[in-house]
Amino acid sequence: MARASEIPHGRGLCVRVAGIDVGLFRADGRIWAMENRCPHAGHELNLQPNEFLTSDGELLMCRSHGARFRVEDGLCVLGPCPGAALRSFAVDVVEGIVVAQREELARIAAPASR
Ligand code: FES
Repeated sequence: MARASEIPHGRGLCVRVAGIDVGLFRADGRIWAMENRCPHAGHELNLQPNEFLTSDGELLMCRSHGARFRVEDGLCVLGPCPGAALRSFAVDVVEGIVVAQREELARIAAPASR
């Protein structure tokens, strides 16, 4: 998916995997992956490439209507869709490369049941 060293602290990195736009983020010493699609109205979270996080780097933010999400699980904690969650999936870092398990890719590539 990407080199782990390419994921900037406080910004994230947008990549395309299995036809899906994915944001990669660092938090709590780990790398997290979320589909770049807001559960509120389905817009991309970012307006600028790789600009996903609030200014303090603590939360993901959808630029359309201001929803805020936890990085570790994508749960909306503020804004127009509280309790909804971004679609997230597990990734590992192998020899400096961020990789997703095949089953996880298949899961997020399937149509979302919203
Ligand atoms: S589309 Fe994300 S907050 Fe509305």
